Parts: sequence; structure tokens; C-alpha cells
Amino acid sequence: MNLKSSENDMRERSSFGSKFGAIAAATGSAIGLGNIWRFPYVAGENGGAAFMLVYLFFVIVIGIPMMLSEFSIGRYTNRNTFGAFRVLRPGSKWYLIGILGIVTAFVILSFYSVVAGWTIDFLKESLVNGFAGRSSAEIKTGFDSFVESGWRPVFWTLLFVAATAFIVVSGIEKGIERYNKILMPLLFLILIGLGINSATMEGFREGMSFLFKPDFGKITGSVVIEALGQAFFSLSLGMGTMITYGSYIRSRENMLTTAGSVAVSDTLIAILAGVAIFPAVFSFGISPTSGPDLVFITLPNIFQQMPGGYVLSILFFLLLFIAAVTSSVSLMEVVTAFCTEELKMKRRTAVLAISLVLAGTSTLCTLSQMPDSPLKIAGTNLFDFFDNVSATYMMPVGAFFIAIFTGWFFGKNRLRGEFTSGELYGTGLFPFFLFLVRFIAPVVIAVIFLSKAGWLKL
Ligand code: TRP
Repeated sequence: MNLKSSENDMRERSSFGSKFGAIAAATGSAIGLGNIWRFPYVAGENGGAAFMLVYLFFVIVIGIPMMLSEFSIGRYTNRNTFGAFRVLRPGSKWYLIGILGIVTAFVILSFYSVVAGWTIDFLKESLVNGFAGRSSAEIKTGFDSFVESGWRPVFWTLLFVAATAFIVVSGIEKGIERYNKILMPLLFLILIGLGINSATMEGFREGMSFLFKPDFGKITGSVVIEALGQAFFSLSLGMGTMITYGSYIRSRENMLTTAGSVAVSDTLIAILAGVAIFPAVFSFGISPTSGPDLVFITLPNIFQQMPGGYVLSILFFLLLFIAAVTSSVSLMEVVTAFCTEELKMKRRTAVLAISLVLAGTSTLCTLSQMPDSPLKIAGTNLFDFFDNVSATYMMPVGAFFIAIFTGWFFGKNRLRGEFTSGELYGTGLFPFFLFLVRFIAPVVIAVIFLSKAGWLKL
């Protein structure tokens, strides 16, 4: 049976209206807090340039092939993650990957919305010039007491959930594609402006050599593990986001260039964020290894000491907000597509229901950061628990099975048909791609997963 045509002819399904739209949307998903908040501090903690090199290697050898795998599954079936596996392998247990993806989307969204909420508060503080004249100790206490205050961050978290819901409810072309087409170029412009500004700082050279001069001695097992985890998170892989977005890519479009553009932009933005941040960090004699606080404590402190800091700070937190919302939209769409296609809900009902659940779970995550909060699982607060469990277990497991599925169960000819968009492009690259998804990706992911979970010593 020709699954593709018989399945698809039956119903009208939305798609991205243009190739640029598809790239903007997938790039919007990929570029997020992972690039601007997480990448700089993870790179900072893991040796800067050495980390970056390993990271780049993983993006090329595993990230791009995995993205193409997810796009292929999505586009071939024209379905949400759950439906895609059920259509491809009816009667089997593969649909569990789809369910895992949907649960993971909720887990990520729950803590992601909290950090994204902070960016709105910081944007507001920047606008009213709230950081001016504060010492670095005061900024640190201010941040800590804000995060631990419970209900004030909840307000921003919920506002962020509402903003995400607003875009998702507006639809694929009129919502997701449209906002990404505006917001992504804006994000590029702001970051380039910030990068240029950072070139004028005295710490520029030091920042650059921290980022770009690798010290190979710093490549350790844990650097390798972190780099792969970061690559998956940053490229939105391992839980069906790109399966869902892939299902909106039109059938004659060249997915190789789409995936390539997304990976290149995502990496470029992460590096640019480093270029915008590290020179400032070195100019003010701050340690680049300050961890998750880097963006929320170190930077406001730097901005308020810097000429033009008022405007730069506004731009920076606006940038962070844009990056966050275009990513959370992609996560919410994973669940929305499932609800509309499998549970036959109306888009509005689906988004409303999802937002209500998310409002609950993200509020719990926010409140779990209060000092005496009982909201703990296995001794860690809910926020950290969700962050860890998604990055350490859920995404690697999802990615592993997606790789195995694509390489061994999807069907070589179907895969070839999608990879080449019906023999239109990249036919010569196919065997190489197949080798990467069949052998390299699953083995590397498995080894790293086992060592991260503590079952294997790397
Ligand atoms: N990639 C986004 C970031 O860098 C986050 C994100 C969106 C994500 N969708 C995802 C992460 C799916 C993992 C899986 O911030």
C-alpha cells in the first residue's frame, strides 16, 4: 500500500507556506535559552574552546543526521509524533516514543517557562533602569530573593505560558510561521549589535581566546558528555519537535539545506552569544565559570557599569525573551498536534487544555525554588529535577530510539525518498547519512547515556 498518498489525500493538513518559513520556524525552535543562557555557561564551565570543538563535532556527525531523521519521519507520515510511529509501525510498541516525546515536552516546558519568565522580569527591570547603582552583591541577593520569593516569578511564568499559547493557537502558518519570520531576523540583528559592541571592550581579546583557543588537555569524559547533551538540547532533538515541524515541511522541499541552515544558524547564534558575553565578563574581571547565574547576575552587573548599558540590557533581555518564546512554541506544538490529530480536539480547546496543565506544572516548578519548599523529588527541587531528568534520561533515550527506528525500521526506500525529496537532491550523500544513523548515532548516544547515568565510566 502506498501509505503516503492514501493517508494524506484524505485530509487537508496545514504546512509552512515557504521554505524560509520552515527554516525560520525550525531555527526558532532550535535557538532558545539553550543558546543564549545555557551554552555560554556550560562552555564556560567546560573549558571554553575545547568544549566548543567537541560540540561542533557532535552537531555535524550526530545533530544534523538526527534532525534529518526526525524531519523524514514527520514529513513522510504528515503526523504528530505519536501518530507518526503508529502509522509507520501499526500494532507495535514504537508509538511509545511518541508518548515519551509528549511527556518530555511537558517536562521541558515546565522548567523552561520558569527561566523564560525571569527574562520578562529582567526586561521590565531593565526598562525601569532597576539595576542602576546596585553593587554586584546587591544584584546577586536581588536575583536570589526574586527566584526564591515564590509568587512574583509565578506571575511572569504564567505570562510567558500565555504568550506561547497565543502564538500556537493562531495556527501553523498564521501563528508559528508568521511570528518566527519576524522574530528570528530581529534576534539576529540584536545579537550582531551586541557582538559588535563587545568588540570595543578591553576584555575582547581575552574573551576571544577563551572561546576560540582550544586547550586539548581540557577535553575530558564529562566535557564530551556535556557537549552531546547540549547539542541535542540546542537543536531541539530527541523528543519529536522536529518530527512535528517536519510534518509541516512541503514534500518537494530540500530538507538537507533546511536542516543545514538550522544547524548552522543555531551554532552561529550560540557562538555569537559567547562573543557578546565573554569579553564583557573578562573586562570586568569576572570568572567565566559562574554557571547558570552568568546571564542573570553577571550580566546585569556588567550592564549597569557600562556606558550604554541601559539600552544594551533592554536589548539583551528582549533577545532572550524572543529566543525563549519561539522555542516554547515548538514544544507546545508537539502536544497540540497530538491533541488535534489523535484526540480530535479543536486547536483552541487543545491549546487551552495544554496551557492549563502547563500553568499548573510550571507554577509548581517555580514554587519549588522557595527555600523550604516541600516540592522535591529524590532530594532535588522540582525545577532542577525536571531539568536533569529531561536532559539526562528522556532526551537521550528518545534520541536513541529515534535513531534506531530511522536506521533499521523506517524502511530504507522510504527514508531515501524523504532524504532526497523523491530523488531530487543529495542522492550521493544518502549512504553516508544511513551509516551515521544506523551505527554512529545510536552507539555514541548509548555510550554517553550510560556514562551519564553512571553505569559506565568514560
Ligand atoms: N532548542 C531550544 C533551546 O535551545 C529548546 C527546545 C525547544 C528543545 N524544543 C526542544 C529542547 C525539544 C529539546 C527538545 O533552548
